[in-house]
Amino acid sequence: MKIAFIGYGNVGAPLASHLQRLGHEVILAANDVSSESVQRALARNGGLRVATPKEAVSAAEVVFLATPFQANAAALQAVGEELKGKILVDCTNPVGPGLSHGLNNEQSGSEMVQKLAPESKVVKAFTIYGFENFENNAYPAYNVKPMMLYCGQDAAARTTVGELIAQLGWEPVDVGGLEQALHLEHMTLLWIRMVRVNGYSPHMVWAMLKR
Ligand SMILES: NC(=O)c1ccc[n+]([C@@H]2O[C@H](COP(=O)([O-])OP(=O)(O)OC[C@H]3O[C@@H](n4cnc5c(N)ncnc54)[C@H](OP(=O)(O)O)[C@@H]3O)[C@@H](O)[C@H]2O)c1
Repeated sequence: MKIAFIGYGNVGAPLASHLQRLGHEVILAANDVSSESVQRALARNGGLRVATPKEAVSAAEVVFLATPFQANAAALQAVGEELKGKILVDCTNPVGPGLSHGLNNEQSGSEMVQKLAPESKVVKAFTIYGFENFENNAYPAYNVKPMMLYCGQDAAARTTVGELIAQLGWEPVDVGGLEQALHLEHMTLLWIRMVRVNGYSPHMVWAMLKR
């Protein structure tokens, strides 16, 4: 599958690298090929391709958005029409002062992303854990896979993203439409507080047990 990345820092680079190693064609959307973040991503995995933002998104079937939340509008505006009909995997989180919800719990960040890119199919995923779990998510001491919760309005887009999640070694858990994104964003805040404030290891994820 052809996958473009807008943003390849802590979150985007390990996901891009992992997907490339799985055999996908992964293209970094870059205004400046010589920028430090492009060079760091290429140093991590020389198999990543680089193209201008419009070229990268136009070539891709799936686009990952992994930018600081405040940069989302500018990043999406830069690729504009190219997002029409594409699956947009929103990895971003609105985090406000004191680890509060950045949009005052009134609207999720992903619903805002959907408004910014109305013709794309937004699926929120890869947001509920820290970046430390995105290139290597193996927890070999347990007999279950860690779960990755995801949501989005378009069922076919959720299926595609669920397949990518499974390929990356997670138990994909489809939690429904984009109205669930606000709840995922609160799970993110919970994880951040547990790990970054309360001292849990960042190598801590959740699993789903069913009977
Ligand atoms: N950190 C985590 O553990 C974690 C976990 C899950 C989700 N998230 C969410 O994931 C998102 C990215 O976090 P991160 O920690 O990966 O951030 P980061 O390391 O700062 O990386 C951000 C990336 O976005 C790019 N970028 C910044 N402004 C841009 C713009 N206007 N247009 C295009 N690209 C732009 C940066 O490129 P340059 O370096 O060239 O500016 C960089 O590649 C955030 O929304 C965060 O809330 C973070």
